Amino acid sequence: MTTEHQEEVGTAAARRAADAVRERLGVHAPVAAIVLGSGLGALADRVTQANRVPYADIPGFHAPGVVGHRGELIRGLLGGREVLMLAGRFHMYEGHSAQAAAFPVRVVHALGARTLFVSNAAGGVRRTFKPGDLMVIADHLNLMFRNPLIGAAQPGETRFPDMSAPWTPRLQGLLEESAKAIGVTLQRGVYAGLLGPTYETPAEVRMLERLGADAVGMSTVPEVIVAAALGMQAAGISCITNHAAGITAAPLDHAEVVEVGARAGAAFCGVVEAFVSRL
Ligand code: HPA
Repeated sequence: MTTEHQEEVGTAAARRAADAVRERLGVHAPVAAIVLGSGLGALADRVTQANRVPYADIPGFHAPGVVGHRGELIRGLLGGREVLMLAGRFHMYEGHSAQAAAFPVRVVHALGARTLFVSNAAGGVRRTFKPGDLMVIADHLNLMFRNPLIGAAQPGETRFPDMSAPWTPRLQGLLEESAKAIGVTLQRGVYAGLLGPTYETPAEVRMLERLGADAVGMSTVPEVIVAAALGMQAAGISCITNHAAGITAAPLDHAEVVEVGARAGAAFCGVVEAFVSRL
């Protein structure tokens, strides 16, 4: 990676992108920035007084390349609180660097967000998980073997971030409390982030199980690493859209992932809205 590339996705570039967004959206004091995963875009429709800016108009952002991702940054109210919503993310399997995948986190931080909520679609590695289950992310395994902090230390970021609690324990409790209040059951577990774009082989899923993973996906980890470096609090939910490969005989298919995400959407939206209202 060249120094030039680093500068395009570092703190200074994030400030420029944030200025462009602020001009369009009039951001004040967001209580959280929310990243929407595949098939979980319905939450964007719950935002009131919404203003939107397409990713194509934000310096350093890219058009989203995946079905089920919209590609816009939204500012508005959710659960009565001001939020920023990233509807669409940049995946490393699209050819983006870890730095580019995590760049939107630097931008929402520059816009004043100090809490990051991430969501994703994931395969269930734990055998008792069923499609449609929602899992609070308690911890992660970075099996992408890339780190978005490689390169020059960015102003305002910790060079060697402590990773003993990147998923803020207090926010995990708040998610559980929010779900309980609306009668939704949440699972809790470890998210393994892999590069993709292939789904895993059955042997890889058995390996993940032995490594302590409960769910597997292709995103999220770079974003939360940058959040940790910035001192942000982080929380997240994985929507278990399928049994990971080999757990049942069924082959995996992206259309199914998006469809199950959409079906679990009502519970997901309810939990996140209740959570945000408690922040
Ligand atoms: N593996 C990796 N990523 C995924 C899966 C899976 O089984 N399901 C949804 N995203």
